[in-house]
Amino acid sequence: MRLTEKVHHILRNHLHEGDQAIDATAGNGYDTIFLAEQVGLSGKVIAIDIQDSAIRLTGEKLDSTGLIDRVKLVTDDHATALGKLIGASREKIAAITFNLGYLPGSDKRIQTNAESTKEALAASIQLLSPGGCLSVTAYRGHSGGTAEAETVEAFMRKSQCEGHAVDCFEPESSNSPPILWLLKKS
Ligand SMILES: C[S@@+](CC[C@H](N)C(=O)[O-])C[C@H]1O[C@@H](n2cnc3c(N)ncnc32)[C@H](O)[C@@H]1O
Repeated sequence: MRLTEKVHHILRNHLHEGDQAIDATAGNGYDTIFLAEQVGLSGKVIAIDIQDSAIRLTGEKLDSTGLIDRVKLVTDDHATALGKLIGASREKIAAITFNLGYLPGSDKRIQTNAESTKEALAASIQLLSPGGCLSVTAYRGHSGGTAEAETVEAFMRKSQCEGHAVDCFEPESSNSPPILWLLKKS
């Protein structure tokens, strides 16, 4: 099973009608569409991406699938956008997903980075409801990817020490495979 499928499998069992969820890296919109389907008509998804083109593409896909009304689209850095949400949505979010790196087929220089990802993860813990789920898929094959993956690992190890349940999945490969971290808030 690919890591993206694993995330969807886990969140399919976790999310319910009426929940609120966040896609912190909307990209081509696949994860946003998945989250919007899971939270149902009465749920809400916030989809964030730093690239306006990604947000527009995600919006078009949501429009054509009839899911647009349950999704708020935000063009911004995820650390900034999540930080702004804390006031109104503290401990209200059932799931937050991060699929780090760059958008395949797009400008590879526009990629997530360790500093802003670290800040975004810290904000995510405050936004998650008790029992809420955080998924982070990190890629190590591109420049900056290894440093970012190490930052995610440090965050997850610290969170585990603080009492949150943390799991890690790493496909067997000799060639810097992506790594998936899952956190369930205590
Ligand atoms: C691997 S793609 C995400 C794929 C997406 N989840 C999907 O289903 O298609 C990573 C995305 O992160 C976005 N990104 C890069 N830096 C970012 C930042 N600081 N804040 C938010 N998004 C960022 C990129 O523009 C890119 O679209």
